[in-house]
Amino acid sequence: MKSDKLGVCVIGAGRAGLIHAVNFAGRVKNARLTAIAEPNRVTAEQACRELELDRHYPDYRQALEDDAVDAMVVVTPTAYHKDIVVAAADAGKHILCEKPMAMSVAECDAMIAAAEKNDVVLQIGFMRRFDQSFVYAKEQIKQGAIGDVVLVKSLTRGPSIPQRWQYDIAKSNGPLAEVNSHDIDTLRWFTESEFEQVYAIAGNYRCPEARQEFPDFYDNVVMVATFVNGMQGSIDGAVSVRYGYDARLEVVGTEGVLFVGRLDQSGVVVCNLSSGLKTPAVESWRNRFTEAYRHEDQGFVDAVLNGTPSAVSGHDGKMAVKVVNAGNQSIMEKKPIRLNEDEISLIG
Ligand SMILES: NC(=O)c1ccc[n+]([C@@H]2O[C@H](COP(=O)([O-])OP(=O)(O)OC[C@H]3O[C@@H](n4cnc5c(N)ncnc54)[C@H](O)[C@@H]3O)[C@@H](O)[C@H]2O)c1
Repeated sequence: MKSDKLGVCVIGAGRAGLIHAVNFAGRVKNARLTAIAEPNRVTAEQACRELELDRHYPDYRQALEDDAVDAMVVVTPTAYHKDIVVAAADAGKHILCEKPMAMSVAECDAMIAAAEKNDVVLQIGFMRRFDQSFVYAKEQIKQGAIGDVVLVKSLTRGPSIPQRWQYDIAKSNGPLAEVNSHDIDTLRWFTESEFEQVYAIAGNYRCPEARQEFPDFYDNVVMVATFVNGMQGSIDGAVSVRYGYDARLEVVGTEGVLFVGRLDQSGVVVCNLSSGLKTPAVESWRNRFTEAYRHEDQGFVDAVLNGTPSAVSGHDGKMAVKVVNAGNQSIMEKKPIRLNEDEISLIG
């Protein structure tokens, strides 16, 4: 390291990239934002102004040569993750890679191998594992508050109209990847097991503009699952919902139930005769998980500086990609898909 702080370059200064960049620019201890890599000039200039940053690379490969960069946060569209992560690992940079980790299990294997070969940290961006309410729920289950876990239900529904690259299932793996990767990881985390079989149904109900050019695109999906340890799972996902950002978890046990997350932003309810009960909905994942992203970024820096394993490994990222692909196969083939048993290994 060139300085006593970990030098971080954020690759891709779009919606999620800016959240990480702002964190590393001042909200995370023992780290500093050194540069961004962003090919879109307008986006890059705007980000540099906002971040008061003077180092911008149009091509991420230029950042690989920069000795002041110790670590890279990969926040480009998913299809580019594999090439960037492998190149970063080969250049000796530690890596925080946004979810979904990649497009296929083979790509994930290449990324994991590159990180292992070069002895660098590889962490995947499942920030719900750093969210206080999810962490508290997990602790409650560990302490036996609801008995044995029977069913884990998780949903994520977002207000945003997808970016163009997200309409193309070949480029994004669809909402199961872009939205529900988090739910898939949460189910693995709370069942402490691996998916055994999935069955998913999906359709495009709200995005008529995508129907002709992207006939496979879906904006609403439901997936049920069985786990290797016998537990049950269910996920639903949606984009372009218009009513707000909705991320909720319910865990049913043999002796109780546990709920995480609410749709209302503030807990304040206003009531009057003309409008009845009124409370604002959560607007975006940016508001709901602000602190989780900061804890995630801090966890990454701590893992690098302390030489400890990252809290969310390449294996976690890979298993979520595997489930996404099985879910998309189930949608296309209209039948349940068993996950390849050779590759299912219980979480250690
Ligand atoms: N953890 C979360 O909750 C969360 C939330 C949103 C997005 N994401 C993930 O973050 C990634 C980016 O999503 P987004 O919504 O920010 O997308 P976005 O389209 O808003 O931003 C992507 C940025 O990457 C840039 N880019 C494209 N190719 C690049 C390259 N080769 N090198 C450097 N930059 C490049 C684009 O110009 C754009 O500015 C996706 O993998 C997405 O799934 C995660």
